[in-house]
Amino acid sequence: MLIDLQGKVAVVTGAGRGIGKEIAYTLASEGVTTVITDINQSYLDEIRRDFAELGYEGSQYLCDVRDYGQIEAMVQSIAQEHGRIDILVNNAGVLGGGSVDTLPEQIWDLNLDVNLKGTFLMCKAITPIMKKQRSGRIINAASFAAIVPSIGTAAYASSKAGVEQLTRVLAGELGPWNVTVNCYAPGMIPTEMNHFAEQPPEKQQQLLDTLTLRRWGSKKEVANVICFLASDLAGYITGTIIDISGGKLATQIPRDAYEKAQAEGEYDLFE
Ligand SMILES: NC(=O)c1ccc[n+]([C@@H]2O[C@H](COP(=O)([O-])OP(=O)(O)OC[C@H]3O[C@@H](n4cnc5c(N)ncnc54)[C@H](O)[C@@H]3O)[C@@H](O)[C@H]2O)c1
Repeated sequence: MLIDLQGKVAVVTGAGRGIGKEIAYTLASEGVTTVITDINQSYLDEIRRDFAELGYEGSQYLCDVRDYGQIEAMVQSIAQEHGRIDILVNNAGVLGGGSVDTLPEQIWDLNLDVNLKGTFLMCKAITPIMKKQRSGRIINAASFAAIVPSIGTAAYASSKAGVEQLTRVLAGELGPWNVTVNCYAPGMIPTEMNHFAEQPPEKQQQLLDTLTLRRWGSKKEVANVICFLASDLAGYITGTIIDISGGKLATQIPRDAYEKAQAEGEYDLFE
């Protein structure tokens, strides 16, 4: 059984770098006309050159997901240029932390505006097109923080929990038009957002100790799940959150298994 996405049109927000970029390149390599949007023009310029070299179909738009005027103009232009929108990946996100008593109000607003309101505004602009088509896939970046938050992430975790609930509401509203809406919860994927793999070794060990699959996830492992969710194979999945966290909730003390494997000479905890 193969995932067939040939000929579809996708929009990926915040795809200038990180997981979003990997999602966009993976979709494009599967024959999807891929529209990449970001707030950083230099990322978009580099991607434009790459797409030309690789022979990928698509276009690039400078667009801030907090600005409905920009979104409307972009969606109109995409509709004219590509004729349809089959897949929307709301990947754009920011991470701002701080304890509740010291967290600046602007950081709270930024997290809520980009992560939650940005997702809502993109859906608001694109769902009329999907409804007309009587088909569509909306795939939203939640986070493991939406399920179990870390300390000091009031703004980020709240915004991502909002994305999870927004996903369910939209799944309900759009069911009659054969538009599915799902979200995904990456666990620990090293990117410029979190610099997990650049932390001091003891901190890295502490983070890895929480994972049933005791390693960082890759951007590709997230992109592969998005391709599945975007495909016809996932036609009966809607309103759900897909955990891509290496089993962060699967076991209570995952390290026990690795210590046992180490004692058996099968694993090196500090490799
Ligand atoms: N990396 C992880 O482990 C992880 C875990 C859970 C959830 N996520 C989520 O996955 C998504 C991607 O994360 P990442 O680690 O690749 O982050 P990243 O910081 O590397 O990339 C985020 C991208 O979003 C863009 N962006 C920021 N604000 C924007 C705005 N207002 N409008 C449009 N684009 C904007 C940035 O320019 C950047 O290209 C985010 O929503 C993040 O919350 C990531």
